[in-house]
This record gives sequence, C-alpha cells and structure tokens, in this order.
Amino acid sequence: MNGINESLCLYRDKEFSLLKVLLGDSILPKSIFIYGNSATGKTLVTKKVIQSSGLQYSSVSCTECFNSKLIYQKILSDAGHSSEKSCSTMMDFCRYLAQCTFALLGQPFCIILDKAERLRKMDCNLLPSFLRLGELTKLDISVLFISELIYEKFVTSSGFYEPIKIHFKNYAKDQLKDIMTYDCPDDFSTDFYKGYVTAIVDVFFHITNNLTELRHLATVNFSKYCEPIVEGEIDKNDYRRLWAKIMPHLKKALQTVYLREVSSVQWETMQEKSNYDKTIKAQVELPYYSKHLLLAAFFASYNPANSDRRFFAKRCVGKMSSRAKRSVKSIKNSDKKFLGPKPFQLDRLMAIFYSIAGEAVSPSANILSQISTLVTLKLLVKCSSDDQIDVPKYKCIVPLELAIAVGKQVEVDVLQYLYDT
Ligand SMILES: Nc1ncnc2c1ncn2[C@@H]1O[C@H](COP(=O)(O)OP(=O)(O)OP(=O)(O)O)[C@@H](O)[C@H]1O
Ligand SMILES: [Mg+2]
Repeated sequence: MNGINESLCLYRDKEFSLLKVLLGDSILPKSIFIYGNSATGKTLVTKKVIQSSGLQYSSVSCTECFNSKLIYQKILSDAGHSSEKSCSTMMDFCRYLAQCTFALLGQPFCIILDKAERLRKMDCNLLPSFLRLGELTKLDISVLFISELIYEKFVTSSGFYEPIKIHFKNYAKDQLKDIMTYDCPDDFSTDFYKGYVTAIVDVFFHITNNLTELRHLATVNFSKYCEPIVEGEIDKNDYRRLWAKIMPHLKKALQTVYLREVSSVQWETMQEKSNYDKTIKAQVELPYYSKHLLLAAFFASYNPANSDRRFFAKRCVGKMSSRAKRSVKSIKNSDKKFLGPKPFQLDRLMAIFYSIAGEAVSPSANILSQISTLVTLKLLVKCSSDDQIDVPKYKCIVPLELAIAVGKQVEVDVLQYLYDT
C-alpha cells in the first residue's frame, strides 16, 4: 500500500484557508483553538498551513511531552534557545523565550500544542498560562491548541481571552471513500480500489467514521478481497460477486473494530482457521476456589432465586417437575439472558458456592476475601445500595463464553446449571 500521500488533503479547503488567513496576518492571533473528533485532519491541516506560511514554529505533542518540563524544553529547543540550564517553571520559560533569536529580532513565533487536552492533567498553571502566553511574555507569539474536546470542556475556569475556534467536522461517507481511495496500491486501478473501499465504508460506517480505523480495516481485509481474483475464480470487474464473497468476512471483522487485539497478519491467519476456538480468548487464570466463586456468582446473576433449590440442592440436580418445565418454557420465550445479570446477595452466592465446590471447603475469611479480588478484577461488580442497612449486592459481569471456559477448568458444566438454556 502506498499509504495516504501526506501532502494530500481533501475536503479541508475551508479550514485550510481560514487558518492560512489567520496566520498570514501581520498581527498573529494570540490563540487559536482547533477541535474535532479523532482523524478529522486537524494535525494534518495545521502542519500544512504552518509549513506553507514560512513562520517559525514549534510543534509539541502533549502525549510525547507528558509533563510541563518536557514541553518547555521542546519549545525552547525548537526556538533555538541555547541555554544548558533546565527550565522547570513557567516563569523561567517566559524569561528564556524572551532571550530567543525570534524575540530579539521581534519576529512572530507559533506554538502548536497537539492533544492539548492533556495539558489539563499537568500543572494547574500550565493551561491558563499558555492561553495568555502573548500577554505574559509581551512577544508576538501565537499558541495553537489542537484538541478533541469542545472549548467549554477544555477550559475549566474563565477569565482568558477566548481563542479563535475552528471546528473540524466529521467526514461524510462519500468523503471517506474518496480519501481512502488514495491508499490504492500501485498494481491496482483506482476504480477497482474504490469499489473495495466502498464495501468497507458501507459495512463499517455505522460503527465507526474514524478514518484511521477504516484505513486499518481496509488494509487488513484487502488480501481477502483479492483472493478470488488471484485464484481466477471471479473477474476483477465483477464487483457484485466480489462484494458477495467478502461480505461474510467483513461482518466477522465487525467484532474486532477498535480492539486491535491482534495484528493484521494474525487476523488473517485466524480467518483461515475457520474453527478458531473462541474460548481460547476466554482463558482466565484464577485461584482454584475463585473459579467456583465466579461460577456461583454467574449462576446467581442469571438464574432466578427460586430455581436454586432445583439446581443446587442435593439430589435435585437437573431434575425438573412438569410445572417447572412449563415455567422454563414461558421464560425461554422472553430469553432472560438478554436482560443482563441481576444483583444477588452474598449468602445466596455462598450457598451456591458450597453446592458446586463441595461442602468439604470450610468457610473461611480467605474464601470471602476472594470475592473482593473478583470485584477488583472487574469480574464482579458491587451494586451500591441506597439503604445503609441493606446488605451489599453483587453482579457477575463475565460473558457466557468465559463462564463456560472457567467451568471446563474446574469440571463444572455451566450450561447444565443455567435456567434458560
Ligand atoms: N482530508 C484528508 N485528506 C487526506 N488525508 C487525511 C485527511 N484527513 C485526515 N487524513 C489522514 O488521516 C490521518 C489522521 O489525520 P490527523 O492526524 O490529521 O487527524 P487528527 O484530527 O489530528 O486526529 P487526532 O485527534 O487523533 O490527532 C493522517 O494520516 C492523515 O494523513
Ligand atoms: Mg492529531
């Protein structure tokens, strides 16, 4: 793949010319606030404008420079400050800025703070100071903040000059298709690649309109799309059949959007291995009795309390009266598992636990402490009760696949104990 040509910038003419006009003015604006969702071209456009403007600038990623000291150092080194002394306070920073060549020559200077929302988590004076840096230093400095947040969420207090705001809207579906078409590999025609990109955007757009994510999905699935052409099965101009062939594959890929839990190559191998065992992913390592506790919590969350006697009382396992069968039937119609887990009390959990773990396990603080471990691991959640007198309740939030996998490890057939399976 070529990768998007970095000099290419589609559908951003308005934002580009607005920034260009602002930075081309003889008096630079004190601050500009550029905002919009991820991958809407904020960084791309800003860098292009600043490079074409001929201004001296420093571009800082607040993710890379994660504290104030690193930010000061990056800006000072970009501004050509030669001091060996480290700069750790805003006061020193302003003093050093005034010693830089651009300041001595009275030239303008731009500071781009990308991922600027991170500034809010750093020293509390950092963001307010950058918002009025021109005022503090009395230099011709413009600060460009690039953020995913809207301004009202970005600043927590008021009293600053409001920056000029530029919003980068999300790309529309067709715009995304056009931009992604420029990713076309050299040995394929643009029309062919556009056909492929259209399929990708059509399938994934309702889940994500993030250009970076869509480009990743397009890269990962392209070889699969080309497979029938390479094998001579389908002609490369027969889009209809190519689409029909790739659709089931893309629908499977819907589950992995944003997860990036596997690399592109791994994903492709997984697809080849059609009987990829989902439970492999659902492995979890816990102490022996924690597994029983987790299973007990799972049953308590998904089974109604009045079914416990049937499943967990001695000699009753699996047997059902005709009345119980009728009630199961009526519940099956409403498919209870889609209603999610229900809260349960600790004593119910312990009763089920002793039933599945065997009564040889002596009640000990050790066992009880494992419940809080499960809560910390986010396998259980504690439901807050408004009533102080009320006993705490828990919910088990693990998916069925994981419960089945844990059940296999301790030889408990989970499905046998579930009310509506
Ligand atoms: N209009 C466009 N034309 C061509 N390529 C684009 C366009 N918009 C974005 N891209 C490409 O998408 C990628 C993401 O863009 P960019 O980094 O500018 O987004 P961003 O808004 O800064 O996102 P974030 O908030 O996550 O930093 C880049 O590789 C860029 O080249
Ligand atoms: Mg960016």
